[in-house]
Amino acid sequence: MGFISLRGVTKRYGKVTAVDRLSLEIEKGEFHTLLGPSGCGKTTTLRMIAGLEELTDGELFINERCVYSASKAVHVPAPDRGVGLIFQSYALWPHMTVYHNIAFGLKERKVPKDKIRATVMGILEKLQMTGYEGRYPSELSGGEQQRVAIARMVVTEPPAFLMDEPLSNLDAKLRMRLRSELKRLHNESGATTVYVTHDQVEALTLSNRVTVMRLGLLQQDASPAELYNRPSNLFVADFMGNPQINRIDGHLTGANGERIFESGDGLFRMPLEGLETDVEPGREVALVTHPEWLETSVVPLEGAREMNVYTVLMAGCETLIFLHAEGQTLATREQGQSDLQPDQKVWVRVRHFNLYDSASEELLSVGGTGSSC
Ligand SMILES: Nc1ncnc2c1ncn2[C@@H]1O[C@H](COP(=O)(O)OP(=O)(O)OP(=O)(O)O)[C@@H](O)[C@H]1O
Ligand SMILES: [Mg+2]
Repeated sequence: MGFISLRGVTKRYGKVTAVDRLSLEIEKGEFHTLLGPSGCGKTTTLRMIAGLEELTDGELFINERCVYSASKAVHVPAPDRGVGLIFQSYALWPHMTVYHNIAFGLKERKVPKDKIRATVMGILEKLQMTGYEGRYPSELSGGEQQRVAIARMVVTEPPAFLMDEPLSNLDAKLRMRLRSELKRLHNESGATTVYVTHDQVEALTLSNRVTVMRLGLLQQDASPAELYNRPSNLFVADFMGNPQINRIDGHLTGANGERIFESGDGLFRMPLEGLETDVEPGREVALVTHPEWLETSVVPLEGAREMNVYTVLMAGCETLIFLHAEGQTLATREQGQSDLQPDQKVWVRVRHFNLYDSASEELLSVGGTGSSC
């Protein structure tokens, strides 16, 4: 059993099903992220784990103890579940200084004064906030308040941290720095972390495991690499695109083991090499690639499609290039800076791809000649 175990967890608000029969095992020490678009049920799930929301149906276990069961009428209240919480709004005590905000939980536990002092000063140093201990929350920036909220949660050493979009109000630079601090704190504490975000890059960079949700339903529960390389359906593939995935709709033809993808507009024909599992000809499919799974050339390549450069977006360490041909746009990514110019002719070849069933939208197979990343 995982350290946190959800079994058929359902939450309904009147006619709205916010979380729909969610079953999930979150292992001890894991950094587990709930990821999905607005309204998919992430916060509701976290609040049910925390004990701030009752389940409509299902069971919840923390550290092998049943903390909620609709059928067995078990309901362990929030303070007795041993989890630390951080929400998007920082919720510090406004009338207490930074020092006393952080020390609060330790005082409640009657920790000796000198030990409290050492712990509070230690965590402030770790979060680069030494010197701020005498300030009140109203005298801090958003990022500083959030660091105090993190410090306050960490010092009581709960076996699990639950965090709901804790970095979403911060600017990009601070968000990146706090991400790395959160990851270190997680590793050092050994606590199990359940983290909520709708930012796929944040999920990939922080997590050991990610659960993608949509309309309250689990879509995929996987490692970040698996999620990026083998999204289980078109919704996850689209959601994991950064900035976007390429999707070409078409069908499969071929015989004698050879499989050929033909785009619906008849303009793109590609033998499918290295298919992991065979897919029978005749099927309507969507061929999906990340931008970096495409290869471009300024001279004709075998099996390549001729396209025109539409725009070149240089972002310093990499360049994103949008290509256009007959109603189809593809994005490709080059390391560093690109020499390509708008309206230039290029040939584009798919190095690696995922194949989805057009009707069910489920992953059928993966393939290609190179590795996926
Ligand atoms: N108290 C409530 N009463 C009625 N409906 C609710 C309530 N809380 C949440 N919902 C609905 O449940 C669904 C899931 O909400 P939830 O807050 O869990 O989404 P979320 O994934 O956290 O979204 P966001 O990324 O916007 O924070 C939404 O459709 C929401 O409108
Ligand atoms: Mg939310």
